[in-house]
Amino acid sequence: MRRRAFLGLAGALAIPGCTAERAGVVLASRLPLPRPFTVPLTMPAVARPLVDGGTAYELVQRPSRVEIIPGTRTEVWGYDGTFPGPTFDVRAGRPITVSMVNELPVPTSTHLHGGVNPPQFDGYPTHLVVPTRRFVHEYPLSQPAATLWYHDHRMDFTGPQVYRGLAGMFILRDDVDDALPLPKGDKDIPLLICDRAFDADGSFLYPSLPGRPGVKGEYHQGVEGDVILVNGAPWPELEVDSTRYRFRLLNASNARRYDLRLDPAPPDSSAPFTQVGSDVGLLGAPQRLDRVVLASAERADVVVDFGAYPVGTEVTLVNRLDAGPAGQVMRFRVARRGNDDSRVPAKLADLEPLAPGRAVHRRRFDFRLSGPGAHGTHWKINGETFDPARTSATPRLGTTELWTFSSDFHHPVHVHLGHFQVYRRNGRAPGPADAGWKDTVDVRPFEVVEVLVRFEGHRGRYVLHCHNLEHEDMAMMANFDVV
Ligand code: C2O
Ligand code: CU
Ligand code: CU
Repeated sequence: MRRRAFLGLAGALAIPGCTAERAGVVLASRLPLPRPFTVPLTMPAVARPLVDGGTAYELVQRPSRVEIIPGTRTEVWGYDGTFPGPTFDVRAGRPITVSMVNELPVPTSTHLHGGVNPPQFDGYPTHLVVPTRRFVHEYPLSQPAATLWYHDHRMDFTGPQVYRGLAGMFILRDDVDDALPLPKGDKDIPLLICDRAFDADGSFLYPSLPGRPGVKGEYHQGVEGDVILVNGAPWPELEVDSTRYRFRLLNASNARRYDLRLDPAPPDSSAPFTQVGSDVGLLGAPQRLDRVVLASAERADVVVDFGAYPVGTEVTLVNRLDAGPAGQVMRFRVARRGNDDSRVPAKLADLEPLAPGRAVHRRRFDFRLSGPGAHGTHWKINGETFDPARTSATPRLGTTELWTFSSDFHHPVHVHLGHFQVYRRNGRAPGPADAGWKDTVDVRPFEVVEVLVRFEGHRGRYVLHCHNLEHEDMAMMANFDVV
């Protein structure tokens, strides 16, 4: 039997979560959970080129044992043995190479999520780098400043391999972004948010890990953990000045969605978040938000002004989609006054709105569960499971198409290569989480989301897929060929 049927979904056709906001099923940790806000937020190392000032990077994917839950050790599979992997901080228009050395016991394929890359360097699911080998990715980086991320993309095993630690941030900067008076330096902070469950000995719990009991059909919906990690630390705390900060929020969870709020909200009752960027770049103009909703793989670049709070205030980033431990994410403690010369200008970037009249082709992609059949239950697109040999669409390079995504459940739909703008959600105007250029869109149960996708940069074979990694591993993926 194919590995992707491992969840053995006998009779698991019901989708109990489908009316709720949640996209997965919680796997409970078997150790006492650490007290929230007792460990400091840390920053992943910054990736360094092999030669100072150079453009060639090398990362070694290897196991290592790290302290995540205080007093225990967790084996991670990390880029350079770290979880999250090193953060890239690189310039648009300056191509780099990244040599990925595989010192893990399993094959890998590394994808730069949101990157506009030639197909041979995109991390196609069957483009496997086997243990002891390396592969050199060439990234042209000819795209605007954005908060991208990189992660494993091995066919059928992306969920468990990302869960074990193969994910990191990739910050792309350019002159437009640099020229904005937004918070900079140590006030420009990536926050990689994910959930994990831990076994009694501190190891990661995941239903498919060998020797792990508890493989249950219900996890076909997606695996959620009960511990929230930010930059790899459980419910961390960050001391902040009473100034503005720029937070690059990434939902790197396998399945969990978040509805992020600040508690307390600012006393002056202004909206706590000012969003300046979406998945793949700056918004045209900032938008004020009471909450930030992120499905798997989505990013939001937001400015928070702690100047709205008295010094001494503890401000918690909470997740309204969970009533348990995963309802909290991290805490900011407003520790001191600070000078603030940053601001959020009314205009951020030239954002060309894509008009539907520009679309030269319309295509529909229906994301739906099917089964149980002879080969188990599958998440399918247009009734088909992923076959690397079959292509579902052939958009022309340099054109825009109107793609319609429909669903029976929560499916964060991600398109490789082609960035898009959300045109309509359920026949109406898109919501706040749909703003700007996107590479992933939160398609909720029984929704119909229309996006205008532009195919630029490269010809060749790419994938679109559900970014709930358990759905992706159960073949909710399709090829398209840019011709
Ligand atoms: Cu972030 Cu194809 O994935
Ligand atoms: Cu991607
Ligand atoms: Cu899905």
